[in-house]
Amino acid sequence: MGMIYTITLNPALDRTLLIDEMREDVPNRIIREESYAGGKGIDVSKVLTAFGIENRALGFIAGFAGRQLEGQLVRDGTGCSFIPVSGETRINVIVHEIATGRQIIFNSIGPMVKPFELIEIVDVVKRVEEPEFVSIGGSLPPGAHPEIYRKIIETARLRGAKVVLDVDREALSVGIRGKPDIIKPNIHELSHLSGKKLEKRGEILEAARKINRKGVETVLVSMGPKGILLVSDGKAYQAVPPKVEVVNTIGAGDSSVAGFIYGLSKGDDLKEALIWATAAGTATTLRRGTALATREDVEKIVPLVEVETISED
Ligand SMILES: Nc1ncnc2c1ncn2[C@@H]1O[C@H](COP(=O)(O)OP(=O)(O)OP(=O)(O)O)[C@@H](O)[C@H]1O
Ligand SMILES: [Mg+2]
Repeated sequence: MGMIYTITLNPALDRTLLIDEMREDVPNRIIREESYAGGKGIDVSKVLTAFGIENRALGFIAGFAGRQLEGQLVRDGTGCSFIPVSGETRINVIVHEIATGRQIIFNSIGPMVKPFELIEIVDVVKRVEEPEFVSIGGSLPPGAHPEIYRKIIETARLRGAKVVLDVDREALSVGIRGKPDIIKPNIHELSHLSGKKLEKRGEILEAARKINRKGVETVLVSMGPKGILLVSDGKAYQAVPPKVEVVNTIGAGDSSVAGFIYGLSKGDDLKEALIWATAAGTATTLRRGTALATREDVEKIVPLVEVETISED
């Protein structure tokens, strides 16, 4: 069996500051500070690692924050082969008010990656050992052209990898031209891609099938509490998660990507892998802040996911 690689071109160090109650114009005492490695590809790595699946995180890191990010991933058991660039990896700040559970999130844009540095990621993908899956996620570094995603996808496919693309907006529309095997837009991302607001299931299915015809074999449309719609060839399924007490949905979609890869990598068919994808997303909603699914929660949720077969020919 080959290796799973995740790619995050613009990773982040998520820094959570826990305070009692937010007050204006007075010093707010920080009760606790926590830092986590973040970014959509990195989230996929973290969930796979939590499942005991070996994987490596690729992308760009910079400066002290980059070192810290890498150190945390390695400490928790995720392999890394990041390309060092100049500047400083972005730090997102999350202020969490303990009294109310309220959170304020400040997202930073991250360091510029120069064109000659950016292209290095393609060389890394050319050389990685036995790629079975390459999962690409998240925003581009400022100024980077979305064509880089297409190049990465084409390179990974030439290497024989199954490519998963979970990006937004122009990165998604350009990336699709590289024919990733799997994409996982949420309903807003799919609507944007299709150029119209999709609401009814029939409209979503039609939009997904149109993308299949463009060469993307499997389209997973995540719909928050309504679960995930999978469209692949003649097959279409909808998996619906159980009702849960949602704490925070950050990273739910990334966890679904990890769950799907986990299923496929252990030999599941699409329907079974879809159940893992759905359960992994829902398991992440049970966790505070940027914390992600635990294996224990996912395994508890799996038997509670209901799958409807819409078509199967
Ligand atoms: N409120 C919820 N209740 C139960 N499950 C949920 C809820 N929100 C998300 N999920 C689970 O997580 C999966 C992915 O969530 P969602 O559709 O919100 O992804 P996303 O918008 O890509 O998220 P992200 O912020 O990580 O990019 C859903 O398909 C579902 O299985
Ligand atoms: Mg998402």
